[in-house]
Amino acid sequence: MCTDGEVKWGLEGVVVTVSSISYLDGERGKLCYRGFDVEDLALNSSFEEVAYLLWFGSLPTKEELNWLSSELSKERELPLEVVKIMELFPRDSHPMDVLRSVVSILSLYLKDNSLSFKNAISLTSKMATIAAYWYRMKNGLPIIPPDKRLSHADNFLYMMFGEVPKFSHLFDKMLILHAEQEINASTFSAMVTSSTLSDMYSAVVSAIGTLKGPLHGGANERVLEMLEEIGSLENVEGYFNAMVSRRERIMGFGHRVYKTYDPRAKLMRKWLCELNEGQRVKYLDIALKLEELVLSRFKDKKIYPNVDFFSGILYNHFGIPKEFFTVLFAIARVVGWTAHIIEYQQNNRLFRPLAIYSGPTGLSYREVKEQIDKEVAL
Ligand code: SDX
Repeated sequence: MCTDGEVKWGLEGVVVTVSSISYLDGERGKLCYRGFDVEDLALNSSFEEVAYLLWFGSLPTKEELNWLSSELSKERELPLEVVKIMELFPRDSHPMDVLRSVVSILSLYLKDNSLSFKNAISLTSKMATIAAYWYRMKNGLPIIPPDKRLSHADNFLYMMFGEVPKFSHLFDKMLILHAEQEINASTFSAMVTSSTLSDMYSAVVSAIGTLKGPLHGGANERVLEMLEEIGSLENVEGYFNAMVSRRERIMGFGHRVYKTYDPRAKLMRKWLCELNEGQRVKYLDIALKLEELVLSRFKDKKIYPNVDFFSGILYNHFGIPKEFFTVLFAIARVVGWTAHIIEYQQNNRLFRPLAIYSGPTGLSYREVKEQIDKEVAL
């Protein structure tokens, strides 16, 4: 018989699988994909190369990379009926709700829903198209069909803005940083769904719904809302102290595994400071002041900026609306989700944890009903 003391709330510290896809060292703030430091990949590789590495386990040859790039570009189009259905959505629909809904609708038109690399590639392409199309529709703009000649990142930005902006190389790096992170909540959610031998679309829909939460991928949008509310450098300390006195969680800080600086946040911070030397990056000054206050106030709790603290400042600088920030997280993390879904199938075991029962026992329906009727009669 289990006791309360044995409950691992939130599965904290519980190992659920063996995986060769990525490794986190939470104490040293290290993240590596298939043995490569994420910094090394972000600085030297491309999203397509990293997607190949995460899915297939090694960096691609030139031919393999050409193959994946052509597969990704072939899969960019959405079925026309699906685009028509998107046109019916209320324009104030949140992009994560649209993404979750459209991935679900796609499964009605694309009959192969296997837990396969083919579908991993197809969904990686189509989710970027869904995001870009919704950006255009939500803003009353005509959709821009994909350009098969462009890279994944360039094509996404082209479908959003009608041109490939000069920051597209930085956006490609942001996709790399968001692509994978071991068994985080949304990846675990995808694995739980696929462990029942359900289908790829259902597993990715589970993951999208999970990522949306502000304790997970939804934090990036909340961070920008917070920075907008603070409004100026002068307000930071008062705003921070008020949050602390209300014992509120400060979005973009803290992590279940990283007990030091999140390596992804460190890179984004560096890129933002470099950008800021050329042209002022809005909210960076407020963010850096808030970071200073959090680090000094919560040193003993090892609370540091995580991936969501700086990402939104960069996306905002790129002109991307904050309600799209978590969708940008999702269109990259679909690679990690699908890599783990497929890897886990090699030794699949249905996820089924336990609970300690804390309710009543031995009740009799008749006796309870008589008691209820007696009380009603009084
Ligand atoms: C992501 O798993 C992943 O890898 C996720 C992710 C990925 O790539 O997939 O890295 C992406 O989800 C990043 C996290 C984004 N979420 C946020 O920024 C939301 C704000 N952060 C927190 O809600 C929190 O830090 C979590 C949810 C991220 C982690 O929470 P835990 O591990 O459950 O920590 P906890 O609740 O046990 O907190 C421990 C202590 C508590 O204080 P005490 O009750 O012990 O006094 O630290 C405090 C917490 O109150 N704390 C915070 C805080 N985070 C933790 N206090 C203020 N602000 C915070 N942000």
